[in-house]
Amino acid sequence: MKRVGILGLGEYLPQRILGNAELEKMVDTTDEWITSRTGIKERHLVSKLEAASDLAIKAAQEALKDAKIKAEDLELIIVATITPDMQFPATACFLQAGLNAKKAVCFDISAACSGFIYGLDIARQFIAQGSYKNALVVGTEVMSSVTDWQDRGTCVLFGDGAGAAVLGEVKLGGILSTYLGSDGTKADLIKCPGGGSRFPASSDTIKERLHYLKMEGNEVFKLAVNIMANAASEAVKAAGLTLADIDLVVPHQANMRIIMALGKKLNLPEKKIYLNIERCGNMSSASVATALCEAVKEGRVKKNDIILLDSFGAGLVWGAAIIKW
Ligand code: UT7
Repeated sequence: MKRVGILGLGEYLPQRILGNAELEKMVDTTDEWITSRTGIKERHLVSKLEAASDLAIKAAQEALKDAKIKAEDLELIIVATITPDMQFPATACFLQAGLNAKKAVCFDISAACSGFIYGLDIARQFIAQGSYKNALVVGTEVMSSVTDWQDRGTCVLFGDGAGAAVLGEVKLGGILSTYLGSDGTKADLIKCPGGGSRFPASSDTIKERLHYLKMEGNEVFKLAVNIMANAASEAVKAAGLTLADIDLVVPHQANMRIIMALGKKLNLPEKKIYLNIERCGNMSSASVATALCEAVKEGRVKKNDIILLDSFGAGLVWGAAIIKW
């Protein structure tokens, strides 16, 4: 089996920024509530002209440049998204066309906030087995397209963005281990019910606001910390390391309180945790992808550092990965 690592990273955040003060004018909320309960100050939102693949193209171009790989040499494209351009075809195919990556095999995966880590694991296995030489994995979300701007319980949480990674064979380090898990019995806790085959789009589904994200935030909150902590421990164990070996945690950015509780449970100080939640909110599959890209850009990751990626979201689905840089 070949050793697989990240060769390049990229991200794209749309230009428009929606701050908490503006949200105060839209729903019955306050900057104080949003900041103290979530840690979010602002989030990026797409323009009317931008869909998930448009954000993905920009993030992917940066990642390809960073990896010094040409789009025409890409062999596999995996897009993780729960807000695809359309029901079908796959957003990965729109991305392929946008990049002119003619050789690549393309498909989407739906694993919500854990989509980027699921994508890394899938791509890693294709490359490790020798099926493909390289892969592009992108987490891209237009969460604003499923946000109910009348629901103060959810509309303050989410943002739009994309993060991308190019994977290939490495001589040393790379992805040391992954740990994925799912629990479909809790599927009702976070969902977007309308527009699928269960409730095809109709005037009734629109009237009932079924095309918007629904979340039992409190229930999700209670599960998130323990599940992410367990995933981290399992991934660390599978890599033959201990939690003390971790140099930086790049967690899913759903709620600052969840992230801080996770750090406490894993006995990892705040300085070892990368955060972009304050500026970006929760971007589902794009959160870990953009946070990892920013951490590297900001010089928070040095050669040979041990990085823990850790996420949790709708499904429920969770995942962790240990990467030696
Ligand atoms: O990415 C996928 C995974 N998702 C998550 O991990 C999200 C996990 N959940 C959370 O982050 C938190 O549960 C939320 C941030 C969504 C909510 O925070 P909470 O501390 O659990 O608040 P709550 O839902 O228990 O609501 C507390 C109070 C309620 O009022 P009452 O019933 O106590 O009078 C809400 O109506 O806060 C009220 N509230 C708000 N008040 C002002 C809810 N949303 C808002 C708001 N502004 N935006």
